[in-house]
Amino acid sequence: METLKGLILSGGAGTRLRPITHTSAKQLVPVANKPVLFYGIEALVEAGVTEIGIVIAPETGDEIREAVGDGSALGAEVTYIPQAEPLGLAHAVLTAEDFLGQDPFVMYLGDNLLRDGITGLVEAFRRNEPDGLILLTQVLEPEHYGVAELDGERIVRLVEKPKDPPSDLALVGVYMFTPAVFEAARSIEPSARGELEITDTIQELIDTGHAVEQHRVKGWWKDTGQLADMLEANRLVLEDIEPHVDGELIDSNVTGRVVVEEGATLERCTVRGPAVIGAHSRLVDSYVGPYTAIAAGCEVIGSEVEHSILLAGASVSNLPSRMEASLLGRNVRISRADGLPKTLRMLVGDRSEITLA
Ligand code: G1P
Repeated sequence: METLKGLILSGGAGTRLRPITHTSAKQLVPVANKPVLFYGIEALVEAGVTEIGIVIAPETGDEIREAVGDGSALGAEVTYIPQAEPLGLAHAVLTAEDFLGQDPFVMYLGDNLLRDGITGLVEAFRRNEPDGLILLTQVLEPEHYGVAELDGERIVRLVEKPKDPPSDLALVGVYMFTPAVFEAARSIEPSARGELEITDTIQELIDTGHAVEQHRVKGWWKDTGQLADMLEANRLVLEDIEPHVDGELIDSNVTGRVVVEEGATLERCTVRGPAVIGAHSRLVDSYVGPYTAIAAGCEVIGSEVEHSILLAGASVSNLPSRMEASLLGRNVRISRADGLPKTLRMLVGDRSEITLA
């Protein structure tokens, strides 16, 4: 088989992660202090796929270019492919046709995370040379995904977000194709949501007699499209981090898998891992509980934070109760004022969600 190329889709409006995605790409939200997108690039590179095209949208493309650059820091050689409108995953594939040429490729949705990477799948694809290879996993709410109906190991049918799912096997956002996919993508019609669906394209490959293989995910898989999934991905990645303390601990107590990055200072704090404290963050008189990722340049003063993600420059001080299951955007400030009257004063962006207990 020829060289395999990589195609990462990093467009999409990220509507389910608003307001974070009003100002930033969903693929750049950090999981354990590293953008989701970087995990995908690393998974491809680890599988020997280094020539990677990244499909970007007009709204967030520049930010993604800035974060990833030419890809060399991650061992990749990246080409950017602008997609003018979000017309679907199969439309993105067609947009990338010039880049992909006649090479087989791995397509990876930029907000997906797979614990065990894709090396085994790439090997199976090279070995068996089908025209399509898909990855399936059991999920609780298959109606939110592409769903496969199987007869033994054979794929009978693939349907995108069916109201009445034929099984609980969802299509994971990693696919492998030969150039046969282009003709299939050109043959289908837009779905009810107005998009050229990759799921329909794979069905078209099957209907026109092409071999499509299915494999099961080993280890966990997360599509980080919404808050609960993002927090869960953060939890799962933190479970595996290598603890190390490069920052400064002053009268502080750190237990479990904890990373304290360079320049971070903790004064009179307790941190129970798994957790990561970003570079140059300042924590004073605070408690940081399991599954928390605090990015660079944050401040946590006189507060308790658990199972949360703080983006760069966020600050919380003197919170009246423990904060949990929260995602704070860049430079968000939450503080408690002294004195009376006890009122709430807020400057909150569009579509923010605040729950007070
Ligand atoms: C897309 C695909 C869907 C797949 C999912 C995996 O959905 O259309 O078939 O199961 O990714 O993440 P979307 O996230 O665009 O709604």
